[in-house]
Amino acid sequence: MSQQFLNMKPLPIGLKRVFIFTAIIAAISVGYYIYALVAFAPVEENETFLSEIGEGFGEIGLWLLLFIYFRTLIKLLLGKGGISKRLLPEYSPPISPNQFNKLIHYLDRTHIYFGICAVATILLHIVMMGVPMNILFFPAVLALVIWQGLFGIFISWRHSPKELRKFSYLVHAQLFTGIMIGIFAYFGHLLIDD
Ligand code: HEM
Repeated sequence: MSQQFLNMKPLPIGLKRVFIFTAIIAAISVGYYIYALVAFAPVEENETFLSEIGEGFGEIGLWLLLFIYFRTLIKLLLGKGGISKRLLPEYSPPISPNQFNKLIHYLDRTHIYFGICAVATILLHIVMMGVPMNILFFPAVLALVIWQGLFGIFISWRHSPKELRKFSYLVHAQLFTGIMIGIFAYFGHLLIDD
């Protein structure tokens, strides 16, 4: 989002934090990527029947994640939802968000199902591809996807104690995990020869 888009006002602090966090994670990842190039033997991609199917799951997982963050982006642009209130507290959208109530309602209602499918397909992808867990990008992505899924379940589960639900919302409904999943998965895949 450019400053022009935000009427040349300085970037809100929440958004600034997201950019700084992204830059730090990208810098650490580039450093670790270079280290991994030197320290580990090139990772060959498996060409087995299972890994061919696993590749398909990876692609589906990517599309599901894109869809999930498309919802977040739409809500940010329309000034709707918790993330938007936190990151852009003073932002008022140039168009009326009410025109999009149906779409947002649909995206909110289906998020749990898209979320579960995203976690399941990414886990299947990792298991079927036989990912090298000694390269830290991969266990990090695995842990973050499980983290995101687990706390998503805790928010939605009706027997969750109030405190757990509050904590789960705090750690689940934010952008930091998604940024790390995206950057770590990208650099991890760069290390695999195909
Ligand atoms: C990798 C998978 C997932 C990702 C990346 C993800 C991401 C997010 C994000 C960014 C938000 C903030 C709100 C927004 O986007 O507008 C959110 C909210 C939420 N997520 Fe997830 N989620 C995932 C999986 C799940 C799962 C598996 C569940 C439940 C079983 C779940 C339940 C919820 C709930 C209840 C909210 C809060 C209410 C709402 O904004 O709709 N999520 N999720």
